[in-house]
Parts: sequence; structure tokens; C-alpha cells
Amino acid sequence: MSSLKGKTALVTGSTDGVGRVVAEQLGARVLVHGRDQTRGENIVRDIRAGGGTADFLAADLASLADVRRLADAVRASTNRHDILINNAGIGSAGAARQTSADGHELRFAVNYLAGFLLTYLLLPLIKQSAPARIVNVASAGQQAIDFSDVMLTRGYSGTRAYCQSKLAQIMFTIDLARELEGTGVIVNTLHPSTYMNTTMVRRAGVTPISTVEQGAEAILNLASGPALEGRSGLYFNVLREARADRQAYDAEARARLRALSRELTGLRAAEKV
Ligand SMILES: NC(=O)c1ccc[n+]([C@@H]2O[C@H](COP(=O)([O-])OP(=O)(O)OC[C@H]3O[C@@H](n4cnc5c(N)ncnc54)[C@H](OP(=O)(O)O)[C@@H]3O)[C@@H](O)[C@H]2O)c1
Repeated sequence: MSSLKGKTALVTGSTDGVGRVVAEQLGARVLVHGRDQTRGENIVRDIRAGGGTADFLAADLASLADVRRLADAVRASTNRHDILINNAGIGSAGAARQTSADGHELRFAVNYLAGFLLTYLLLPLIKQSAPARIVNVASAGQQAIDFSDVMLTRGYSGTRAYCQSKLAQIMFTIDLARELEGTGVIVNTLHPSTYMNTTMVRRAGVTPISTVEQGAEAILNLASGPALEGRSGLYFNVLREARADRQAYDAEARARLRALSRELTGLRAAEKV
């Protein structure tokens, strides 16, 4: 997948941070996603001014109904879908537990569950477009899921919520890679870079130590790098293959997460792979 000319990619959370740089550098037709219409349209204008092709799709991933609307909008705007980058996310800042429109713990909902549902809704189109790639932008910040309290009603902290949601993305990646064997669709996940200079890092009061360009390079490596051809279910620490938290390799824990995620998203049998 070295040249992305003629290919279509959706980058969630590309109105800001590293997602924005990825959208600008991909070289495919990009479906820019975020919540803010004006910022989305400005990015589309910039990409077009640079000779690229882009369109903006707005959706709040804190609502599963909106995730479904986003999937419908993607299908209405393209008849092929070569690259899906689940990048949108909320950081660890904030001591108070918050919930999504559906009543789920907010970071679990936005950082993980929305991408889970979006991926399955778009999978038929992605499979038709194979060879295709899915990238889940996770983090080195990972915490094992306590299945007795996934919604973190006890002992909440923003860091715990963030790290749990990021490990859930990694577990989903490994699981989905197995399901997609032989389809020509690969799915990989990564920690893009440590403390990039982005809104979520600034909000957490942390001094940035990496650039968004470094993170974008790592994401683009998984999205289109030739070295990833045929390689799936992997976790990368920036540009290097690495080991994630040990729960990621626990098949029983992954099966529990998959069953819970299907239940919480109301994914119907016909929508499953
Ligand atoms: N920054 C780091 O050092 C770092 C390290 C490890 C992993 N990561 C991961 O990298 C990804 C991007 O992070 P970033 O640092 O670039 O973050 P960022 O600058 O804060 O950007 C986050 C993006 O996600 C979107 N988003 C947030 N909540 C949303 C919602 N409810 N619905 C729809 N879109 C929503 C934002 O859209 P709006 O413009 O509408 O707010 C924005 O486009 C995240 O998954 C993060 O966990 C980042």
C-alpha cells in the first residue's frame, strides 16, 4: 500500500492533534471527522488547497446513535473504504467520572466502544475494498479491565479510565485480527508517541516531549507502510513492535470484552463479521 492515490480513508478525531496531521499527510481521499463543523471544514479546505481530496463528517462519538449516523454518512459518501483509523479520544484529565449519552463511562465509550461499533458497521465495505487496513490508536498507558466494574463506579480516576479504554482497544485489535484472517484486511494498534504536544496532553498539565509529526509517522506506518503488508493483530510502541499489557494476550478476557461490547452497542447478528 505505498501509494494511496484512489484510496479512501476515514480518520476519526482529525480536527485536532495527531489525527489532523495524519489526515493532512495520508495522500488518500480523506474523510475528516470530529465534532466541530467549522474546524472540520477549515481542515478540509487546507487539504484541498494542498492538492488533496477531503470531506468532513461530524459526529459525537459519545453517542452510539451518532456512531451509527457516522457509519451511514461514510457509506453514503464513498463506495470504497481502504483505511480506517480509530484515533479520536479523550485524555486522562478530570477527576470526576462522566458518562456518555448511553450511560456508559465516558472514556470507555468514546475511546473504545465507539471505535468497536464503527469498525463493525464499516467492515462489510472495508472487506469489499481489500487489501485494506484498520489502525486503532491506543497508548502505552494501559490498565487491566476489572470485569466486575467496567464502568468504573468505584475508585474512579481519569487515568484509570483512560488506560482501561486504551487496553480495550488493543484487546479488540488482537481479537479482530483473528476474525479477519484470510480477508485481506489487517488491523494493528499502537502507542503513537509519548506526550505529544496536543490538546489532551496540555489539558492534563503535562509538558509535551514529542511532536505530533512523530506520532503521525508511527500511525502512517501502520496505515500504509509496506513493512506491515499481511501482518495483523500487532501492537507497536511508536515504530517498533512491542508487548502490550498481559491482559491483551488473555483469550478469555478478550472474549468477555467482545461479548460485553456487542451487548452494550446492540450490534445485531447481521452486522457481525
Ligand atoms: N497526545 C499523546 O501524547 C498521546 C499519547 C498516546 C496516545 N494518544 C492517542 O492519540 C489519539 C489522538 O490524541 P491527541 O493527543 O491527538 O488528542 P487531541 O489533540 O485532544 O484530539 C482528539 C481528537 O478526538 C476528537 N474527539 C474527542 N472526543 C470526541 C467525541 N466525543 N466525539 C468525536 N470526536 C471526539 C477531538 O475532536 P474535537 O475537535 O471535536 O474535540 C479531536 O479531533 C488518542 O486516541 C489518544 O489517546 C495520544
